[in-house]
Amino acid sequence: MTKVSVIGSGNVGANTVQKLAELNIADIVMVDIVKGLPQGKALDIQQAAPLMGYDVNVMGTNEYADIVDSDIVVVTAGIARKPGMSRDDLLATNIKITKQVCDNIRSCAPDSIIITVTNPLDIVTYAALKCTNFDKKRVLGMSGLLDSSRFASFVAMELGCSVKDVSAMVLGGHGDSMIPLPEYSSVSGIPLKELMDLNTIEKIVDRTINAGAEIVGHLKTGSAFYAPSAAITTMVEAILNDTKKIITASVHLNGEYGMYDICMGVPVKIGRNGIEKIIELELNDKNKEALQKSADSVEAAIIKIETLIGH
Ligand code: APR
Repeated sequence: MTKVSVIGSGNVGANTVQKLAELNIADIVMVDIVKGLPQGKALDIQQAAPLMGYDVNVMGTNEYADIVDSDIVVVTAGIARKPGMSRDDLLATNIKITKQVCDNIRSCAPDSIIITVTNPLDIVTYAALKCTNFDKKRVLGMSGLLDSSRFASFVAMELGCSVKDVSAMVLGGHGDSMIPLPEYSSVSGIPLKELMDLNTIEKIVDRTINAGAEIVGHLKTGSAFYAPSAAITTMVEAILNDTKKIITASVHLNGEYGMYDICMGVPVKIGRNGIEKIIELELNDKNKEALQKSADSVEAAIIKIETLIGH
């Protein structure tokens, strides 16, 4: 049986496990440092199986030995953003946790594909790649798929149309410097600018950039988890079923888009081998400049963590 492990059984981790179980495509192991938490949640999800009709094993554990032979390991372990806290504030704590988790993945599931989720996402993805020394095709961060889904939701809300007809694209770092691309977004093939004025597009772009913070503002404690877990589940399904889905994800760039040794969100094709192709878009000058700005902020953070990851 195919096996997926999810590290961290908090809001994002546990919701991912539930959604994955409902897909019925893999046995699932959920790991956390808190004793009892993954065990209790796994049992709860397992007991929903007769009602929801899934037939996979869901196991909760505090031992990394249980992730052995995983095809995919999803990393959600870390602390979540609190109101007033930027993603970058999370940096040092979450990088230390990532290193600990990735050392365990390297020894217990050396052939797995890693999907990073913990924020700040692009830096955590970079740290996961360096700590495991995995082939860069096997380490990708969940970022652009969530941002694009938020963008698409806002477009559908504005137009009062089916969200299924909206295709939206967001590039760059998964943070305040993300770049929603209206020129690569459409509704049933119709470019956005033919359906709404520039002012409205601008408002939707701004709301997309601040979508995570908008939710943190409402929740007061903790950050978003329903849409993030939906994006993770979509990525896991695309990899396990080898669908060759094209999404934006944070991946290691070495020459693509003129960027070197950095992880950032760009369009990629994903399948059973992980990242099967990086798609390079012809960007206009404004977007090139925005991408460089995004890269600058990711690079500045990478410099801060080099000692933490031992590079
Ligand atoms: N090993 C395993 N699990 C850990 C470790 C560790 N070293 N450190 C923390 N955890 C666990 C916590 O015990 C907690 O159960 O990670 C879980 C995180 O869960 P939440 O606090 O509920 O956070 P969540 O909302 O799930 O977000 C997790 O995803 O979207 C990002 O910004 C978000 O970085 C955050 C991550």
